[in-house]
Amino acid sequence: MLKKITTAASVVALFALTACGGSSGGGSTTTGQSGDTITMGFAQVGAESGWRTANTKSVQDEAKAAGIDLKFSDAQQKQENQIKAIRSYIQQKVSVIAFSPVVETGWDTVLLEAKRANIPVILTDRSIDSDDKSLYKTFLGSDFVEEGRKAGDWLVANVSGPTNVVELQGTTGAAPAIDRKKGFEEKIAGKSDIKVVASQTGDFTRSGGKQVMEAFLKSQPKIDVVYAHNDDMGLGAIEAIKAAGKVPGKDIKIITVDAVKDGMTALSNGEINFIVECNPLLGKQLMDLAKKVVKGEEVPARVVTEEGTFTQEQAKAALPQRQY
Ligand code: AHR
Repeated sequence: MLKKITTAASVVALFALTACGGSSGGGSTTTGQSGDTITMGFAQVGAESGWRTANTKSVQDEAKAAGIDLKFSDAQQKQENQIKAIRSYIQQKVSVIAFSPVVETGWDTVLLEAKRANIPVILTDRSIDSDDKSLYKTFLGSDFVEEGRKAGDWLVANVSGPTNVVELQGTTGAAPAIDRKKGFEEKIAGKSDIKVVASQTGDFTRSGGKQVMEAFLKSQPKIDVVYAHNDDMGLGAIEAIKAAGKVPGKDIKIITVDAVKDGMTALSNGEINFIVECNPLLGKQLMDLAKKVVKGEEVPARVVTEEGTFTQEQAKAALPQRQY
């Protein structure tokens, strides 16, 4: 009963947010082909990490700067909430829908509905697994497989002798979890000294990373390296390692992905050993693409974000200018 009430309440909350628009408001407005203001329905994953918070701010700030009327919804990491939000945007006849899919599969039906309503869709940050490429105009975001490869390359170059790795995976079924695992495995394949002894999802959250790491520390007799699919899970793992009386960054090396401020701070303090960057500041490029697709202009099918990596020394130098 309680569960039903909670579920109903969150659906109402989602629609309240969607209907009110969570609009960024203000400023001048940008118009599409028909001369009307461009309205973007944006279905965000949630607020699971520092990366996501920075991404949301970038989208909201840049919509405002571009004069695009933004309707924003937070799916609380649930696919059904994102699907409901997209359906609501279709009903509201927005000019363009943008979203970052919680998971890779299960989108064809709702995206077909958007296509039939002549509403262009832009995938941002995460892609979908579908054979029908006509369901969206473009995909703007990182190359997650490459991020996993960078993590694997650093590991291979920086450890010697038998090395036991535990992996904190992102949300099960999400593109960055699947691809970061794949790229990493590619690079350690054939390195007989390196073994992934445990791998489990921490759902991209700090609490998830901490909880899973606590369990790993109890079940694994020897852990040399943590590979966390994002900074937040790595930061949760640091708490668990300290609580177990070990020194993060020394007794157990830590590799993460994102390079948000908290992660970069831990890296420059020596508690993380290496971070692969994943850039959340996609707002400007997203608004530029939105203006083009609304006008019916051609856009590239794939726009890849440029990113680097950080060692402890590089983090110390970069931290003062870090925006997020
Ligand atoms: O899709 C991007 C990933 O999602 C980020 O790496 C992670 O922090 C977020 O939750």
